[in-house]
Amino acid sequence: MLEKIRPEDLTLNPFTLIGKEWMLISAGTEQKYNMMTASWGGLGVFWGKNVSHAYIRPQRYTLEFVDSQEYYALNFFGEEHKKTLAYCGANSGRDVDKAKETGLTPAFDAKAPYFKEAKLVLICKKLHKQPLDPAGFIDPSLDEKWYPEKDYHELFVGEIVEVLQQK
Ligand SMILES: Cc1cc2nc3c(=O)[nH]c(=O)nc-3n(C[C@H](O)[C@H](O)[C@H](O)COP(=O)(O)O)c2cc1C
Repeated sequence: MLEKIRPEDLTLNPFTLIGKEWMLISAGTEQKYNMMTASWGGLGVFWGKNVSHAYIRPQRYTLEFVDSQEYYALNFFGEEHKKTLAYCGANSGRDVDKAKETGLTPAFDAKAPYFKEAKLVLICKKLHKQPLDPAGFIDPSLDEKWYPEKDYHELFVGEIVEVLQQK
């Protein structure tokens, strides 16, 4: 069971949690929602608020849902769900029903859809969105390495308005 905790009570390592364990970014409504795996992102403080950063390429179906809604969720899972995250990072919701294929259970009692199997869920209110500006690269090798298709990420900053943790 997920229970609400205060952001201040979180004990986590963002580098392993996001970079190694990965997360699902979910957004939408009960009628239509989607999720995708992400291993890039951030947790921190901006404008005096606890925030998450999410980086979404323009071709992701999930972007349509994050764009059209006020809130998104970041879902973190235990190691036993790694295959599910790999699946959600290799398939598009345009082609498959990812919840059906993975057996994940969506919940709709928060401001964004999230998954009951998650060990930790961060519900985030969008504050700012900006496409990555290639002119900003101080190290141009990053542009060459990560953007040969010029599909620059959309950068989102979201206020963490609710933290749900597995009891
Ligand atoms: C481990 C892993 C991490 C990923 N991280 C990101 C990311 O941070 N941003 C992004 O745009 N895509 C990322 N992806 C790719 C998307 O998850 C993938 O393209 C997915 O199929 C998109 O699904 P959608 O079209 O249903 O949104 C990642 C994929 C994997 C496997």
